[in-house]
Amino acid sequence: MNKLAPVITLDGPSGSGKGTIAALLAKQLDWNLLDSGAVYRVLACAAKRQGVALDDEERLVDVALKLGVHFQNHRVWLEGDDVTAEVRLETTGMAASTLAVLPKVRAALLQRQRDFQQSPGLVADGRDMGTVVFPQAHLKIFLNASPEERARRRHLQLKGQGVDVNLTSLLDEIKARDERDSQRAVAPLKPAMDAIQVDTTALSIEQVLKLIMDEVRHRRLI
Ligand code: DC
Repeated sequence: MNKLAPVITLDGPSGSGKGTIAALLAKQLDWNLLDSGAVYRVLACAAKRQGVALDDEERLVDVALKLGVHFQNHRVWLEGDDVTAEVRLETTGMAASTLAVLPKVRAALLQRQRDFQQSPGLVADGRDMGTVVFPQAHLKIFLNASPEERARRRHLQLKGQGVDVNLTSLLDEIKARDERDSQRAVAPLKPAMDAIQVDTTALSIEQVLKLIMDEVRHRRLI
């Protein structure tokens, strides 16, 4: 894999800043971007459309293998329909987290994610990018922040989108999702042994980005 395009993995819980940082990093480097959470989220949308239960592993594998998903210009398409707004809903995130515990479903999505490793490089964001999907990645970052700060960020983001949600219920949802994502048997949310761990609670986006770019240069990835 090291002969292929270089990979930077950004893992962490929701609200840790990894989505924002990954997008900015990919833009700055002019590399490809894999938002692996969106892949799980689109699968949840497809399952809902087809009336497939979130614990029906065999049928979900079938849906995953045939998933007609397309990412372009920050938009997500499922079988030709723009599902960008639906993909970002909290309920979709919860559904994605539920089906993501199923080992065969994760296996069915593996190659689809690895296919993103293309020249000149890839920034991959998710939960298991550094541990399972790209274990040979050239740089692994694990971002975290306190649950309260993550709920606050998500609240702000939703408010900006005109969505009014209760901060306390957001915090409860974040904690529930953390619990499920980190306690599952297969590919749980955890830092890779060789990941650089960054607590972003008191850091700005610019500070986190600078820290990662310094490491990118130090490792001569550019
Ligand atoms: O990063 P996100 O909130 O878009 O991810 C939604 C859910 O998808 C997350 O709660 C768990 C699952 N997921 C996963 O299991 N592995 C990944 N690499 C990315 C997401």
